[in-house]
Amino acid sequence: MNDINVWGLTEKEIDTTKYSLNATLFALGNGYIGTRGNFEEGLELEEYDGTFINGFYDYYDLSYGEKYKGYPSRSHAMLNVTNGKKIDIYINGELFNVEKGTTKDYIREINFRKGVLTRKLTWISPRGDEISFESERLISFYEKHLLLSKVKITPINFDGSIKIISSINGNVKNITKENDPRIGVEFNGDELRVIKSSIDDNIGKIISRTKSSDLGLVCVMSNRLDCTGECSTSYTEYNELVSHTYDVKAMKNEPIILQKYVLYKTYKYVEDNIEKITSDNLIILLKEVMDNGYKFYKCKQKDYLDEFWYNSDISIDGDDSVQQGVRFNMYHLLQSVGRDGLTNISAKGLTGEGYEGHYFWDTEIYILPFFIYTNPDIAKELVEYRYNLLEAARKRGKEMQYDKGALYPWRTINGEECSAYFPAGTAQYHINADIAYSICKYIEASEDEDFLVEKGVEILVETARLWLEIGQFNDDGKFHICCVTGPDEYTAIVNNNVYTNFMAANNLKNAYEAVIFLKNKYPLKYRELADNLNIDEVEINKFHEAYINIYIPYDEDKKIYPQDDSFFQKPAWDFEKSKGKYPLLMHYHPINIYRAQVCKQADLILLEFILNDLFDDKQKKRDYDYYEKITTHDSSLSTCIFSIMANELGYYHKAYDYFIHSVRTDIDDIHNNTTAGVHTANMAGTWMSIIFGFGGMREEKGMLRFSPHLPEKWTSYSFRISFKGRKILVSVDEKGVEYKLLNGDPIVIYNKEEKLELKR
Ligand code: BGC
Repeated sequence: MNDINVWGLTEKEIDTTKYSLNATLFALGNGYIGTRGNFEEGLELEEYDGTFINGFYDYYDLSYGEKYKGYPSRSHAMLNVTNGKKIDIYINGELFNVEKGTTKDYIREINFRKGVLTRKLTWISPRGDEISFESERLISFYEKHLLLSKVKITPINFDGSIKIISSINGNVKNITKENDPRIGVEFNGDELRVIKSSIDDNIGKIISRTKSSDLGLVCVMSNRLDCTGECSTSYTEYNELVSHTYDVKAMKNEPIILQKYVLYKTYKYVEDNIEKITSDNLIILLKEVMDNGYKFYKCKQKDYLDEFWYNSDISIDGDDSVQQGVRFNMYHLLQSVGRDGLTNISAKGLTGEGYEGHYFWDTEIYILPFFIYTNPDIAKELVEYRYNLLEAARKRGKEMQYDKGALYPWRTINGEECSAYFPAGTAQYHINADIAYSICKYIEASEDEDFLVEKGVEILVETARLWLEIGQFNDDGKFHICCVTGPDEYTAIVNNNVYTNFMAANNLKNAYEAVIFLKNKYPLKYRELADNLNIDEVEINKFHEAYINIYIPYDEDKKIYPQDDSFFQKPAWDFEKSKGKYPLLMHYHPINIYRAQVCKQADLILLEFILNDLFDDKQKKRDYDYYEKITTHDSSLSTCIFSIMANELGYYHKAYDYFIHSVRTDIDDIHNNTTAGVHTANMAGTWMSIIFGFGGMREEKGMLRFSPHLPEKWTSYSFRISFKGRKILVSVDEKGVEYKLLNGDPIVIYNKEEKLELKR
């Protein structure tokens, strides 16, 4: 990227070697549709492109050398769908392509306040015909089915022919393992098949159907051309490609403007005529959208973003590259997050095929805090999603031979477990506790008691039950949980992972208290739940017994928590020897990594952040000092957490260094894999590093406490927090901190130990 733009991303030179990386960075999305930032006209050798619909996937079989009970037999992955971006342009017969001829005055930009991707350039064809080219693209936040493009071509030095071909192309494939083993899945390339394509009445249509997941997709297109010269129009439908062709007798300095409207809608094959109903409705919508016109959606886009930034912005004075990184990250989170209760936010958002479009614990522990404290309405949809998956999680529990409770899958889109490697997948039972934890955080901050009563208690009980299934009381009277993997994926299948045990105890405690609350305040609801779930006093008391007796290993000599029972029995990792061999998982057999004291990511340190008040400062410091030395941060989920805890412990320089690593991870491609998609958990981790790290915010017993610190490089910063129906503006500079209640009733907060009552 060339210039630091605090409200956007700007590219002033075309670097075709970074074309695919930049296609990720300039990707657009609205939580439903996502499309990579490839040029309308493409490149000659088209690089990594893709358009995705959140929650739209197909299955593939998982193959194992040896398959055991409970191993998932199939997985599913997000599909690359009909390409609606393509616009080919011929200038006097020559194909417009920036790899040929000469390109001048190039600028590509995404503006985070407008939500429109723009590109401008001057192109001189190999024959010498010069044009000015401008394009705009947006995926509407207002109308979730809409992808809108506009191109403007002006001949500079000639009168002649300009041909524009605007198309939708259903002949698309995912990346397969052959193309790239890190990204590709076991797809054959025929997972999404075009079953109908047509063009009439200026409307192009492609209907596709998945091979095995019973999902369908309709994509429709219409175009509008404005020009002064003569123009003839033709339509073609050929080989899964539907196009409108405009042949224009172009005149010097007279612009030709094409507006392209594309709508996507998916459906599930529940009845035979669903395809016709969806497609008829989509055509009605297309006409409405065309009537509203381009400007309308551009204005709505801005209105939507005005509100988003009003709720969410973090403003930083003193370091523009940080400011840019922070806003870039928040913008991508907004573009990626599903908000219909049926979809979620994948590890790579809707920007690429890495991690197959799967949703992980990343949502609950990293991403939800951002939405809970800035856009609680979106947070609600994310917790609703987990409720909608509860039945599938119960089924998964049964598959894993548990009599009671629900086991949420480690990675999934539709609720089925997709993880084929159980030591770093299914064994991460902590996801159950993570979901339970974040639901409580959501309820606390939003005061959404309805959700608690109608859905939350059920999730808490079903997740808590699983701990009783997999844990046991030993002779010491303590509750132990064996054979699990904690968040650190470089240590697998261990007994009593401290993170897991504390979080499980928290899950059990919250389930216990929620049931008691329900019983006292909503006795009828309690009866209903007790009947439906078959819970009784004995079981509830067992929750209590397990959490107060949870076993937590502790090393009395070192005065440190081992990550699990056997962690300190393992030898130190030879960091000298592994120099230059990161990430370790690409260079060593997993068993060699598991055998040593080496961590991929924050595990215990994460625990001491999220269950903050259970540990005193001295303990946190000892643990931090120990684990920092053995953590590789090979996962992008790590540095943000180390930054937060470094701030809490007064290691301000470290806090800043870790934060800097996290804040520009994607823009600067620090993990060298942003081409496959952005890192959404890390993006939200950046937000956490500021709010919980520099801002020192903690939520304790329903109240907010702040302990702000101003990083040396900054002159000031401010952020906004939504909490219990209020919006609080926190501003920090050299003089100190100011809290302002922007809306809602008075509220008590703490500035360190000082109690403050905020009034408007
Ligand atoms: C991390 C996991 C994370 C996953 C998806 C892995 O590298 O170790 O904690 O859930 O990436 O982001």
